[in-house]
Amino acid sequence: TQQEALIRALPKVELHLHIEGTLEPEMMFELARRNGVKLPYDSVEAVRKAYDFSNLQSFLDLYYAGAGVLITEQDFYDLTWAYLKRCQADNVVHTEIFFDPQTHTERGIAFETVLAGIRRALDDGRAQLRISSRLIMSFLRHLSEEDGFRTLEMARPHLDRIDGVGLDSSEVGHPPSKFARLFAECKALGLPRVAHAGEEGPPEYVWEALDLLDVCRIDHGVRALEDGKLVERLAETRMPLTVCPFSNVKLRVFDKLSDHTLRVLLQKGLCATVNSDDPAYFGGYVQDNYLGCARELGLSGGEILQLVKNGFEASWLEEGERGWWM
Ligand code: ADE
Ligand code: ZN
Repeated sequence: TQQEALIRALPKVELHLHIEGTLEPEMMFELARRNGVKLPYDSVEAVRKAYDFSNLQSFLDLYYAGAGVLITEQDFYDLTWAYLKRCQADNVVHTEIFFDPQTHTERGIAFETVLAGIRRALDDGRAQLRISSRLIMSFLRHLSEEDGFRTLEMARPHLDRIDGVGLDSSEVGHPPSKFARLFAECKALGLPRVAHAGEEGPPEYVWEALDLLDVCRIDHGVRALEDGKLVERLAETRMPLTVCPFSNVKLRVFDKLSDHTLRVLLQKGLCATVNSDDPAYFGGYVQDNYLGCARELGLSGGEILQLVKNGFEASWLEEGERGWWM
């Protein structure tokens, strides 16, 4: 269709992607073999079959277990490089990715190993593939704020290679207010802040992310639609929402893609963007998310263009970095 051709032709950005969530089952087996790690699956097919989630937590359990095959700097490089090659194939010209250091430091992997591998791939991506990027260090909200402070201490010598901070993992029961002091410290260090809010959690968590963490984007945010005052605030400030449609269906926030409220968000004047979250687990990369939404929601050419433009608007790209497309 024309919509499909438009999506493929447009240069796109991605703003909500967990690099650990790009670990395809094939690479999981390859790294397990390379590192002598034992997997609880006997084939790639068995892994894919296990990806049948009932909610966020049921996914996170497998996602953290899968990350256990990542050991060496080269593993983190290979993971990130494979993702960047996929960006190139899908006409993604800029990407802002999350990494979860605590997932690895908890297993005894050095912070520096994780950062060096990811960073080297991003640098090569810029030089060899012309893909610009940002790296966002995300704190795990099911852990304590104190653990977050310890992680920030590990990051301190490397802040020139970290572009911002985020907040992810199990949302309900771990409101943004739990991390108010940590995010204040990050703000004092000059780090831009984002947070997952309103994925499974209530609109109150989005208010807290705005008012207590002073974020410049809300990751997911789809539940904001339950609160008219919040929608007004988000629209007036053009606060970006990094929406992840395939993720929302796989984690049962919506029953099916045709039920997704992406179009409603646009109609209310919100700066909604399309992203993939954890593409290896949720059945598609960012372009697949656009294609799926165009098909199932009947997006017009104008709506597709608006979503793509919103992505550039919401990105941390600077004037001098912009390519021919801006
Ligand atoms: N970590 C990876 N993906 C996530 C998501 N969708 N929500 C919260 N934490 C995550
Ligand atoms: Zn996410």
